[in-house]
Amino acid sequence: MNIIVYPTRNYIEERQLKDKVAVVIDVLRATSTIITALYNGCKEVIPADEIEEAVRLAKNYEKNTFILGGERNAEKIEGFHLSNSPCEYSRDQVENKTVLITTTNGTRAIKRAAYAKEVLLASFINITAICDYLEALGQDIAIVCAGTEGRFSADDVLAAGALIYGLHKKNIPIELDDLGLTAKFMYEHSMDDLHGVLSQTTHYSLLKDMGLQRDLDDCLRLDTAPIVPIYSDGIVRAWYNIVDMR
Ligand code: MLT
Repeated sequence: MNIIVYPTRNYIEERQLKDKVAVVIDVLRATSTIITALYNGCKEVIPADEIEEAVRLAKNYEKNTFILGGERNAEKIEGFHLSNSPCEYSRDQVENKTVLITTTNGTRAIKRAAYAKEVLLASFINITAICDYLEALGQDIAIVCAGTEGRFSADDVLAAGALIYGLHKKNIPIELDDLGLTAKFMYEHSMDDLHGVLSQTTHYSLLKDMGLQRDLDDCLRLDTAPIVPIYSDGIVRAWYNIVDMR
């Protein structure tokens, strides 16, 4: 299994991605939020690049059948129902609803990954489910770290490392590029203290300073939402709950 890791979505090349399975990671916080919404029973999630696009899409839905969510500068967008905090996407808020979401980096990374033959969404909260799914698929992988404003974000690379570490533990023969090797090394040396390692990084510090410690705790917990979200034809849906199938 060949694995390449993109530090941000800007590195995606259609040519490289089209014969691979893409795994998009935005730990803080877009993929953590979308996975949480799907785990809590929302019908589907539609990622949008722009605020206007999300608002326009919402016009296709009856009142009370959709949630408009997302952020700009990590804050709730005016007029939207929810921000980009995983804890807001509780079952009573999202069950059976369509979530239309736009974020600064994560939703754009998901849409850009659509060149791949299959697109999955990952974060620490579903890392083992994604490893199990990738093991069953047995295909080459491109891990797309969303990054922050076009720059490398350590939280995403650590989760990429967790994914590679999980596949390695399954004794799957893996070929890694340099960022993949670095990510695995980083994760192996920080898995017991993710908060400590990330505490001085840019995005973690920003969210902490905004009083969003609960988001940080929720996003850095392992395997609390064991589902496999698949993005296809503009929509993210939960494929299945691996734990229930065991
Ligand atoms: C993003 O997509 O840029 C992030 O999820 C930002 C955030 O809300 O923390």
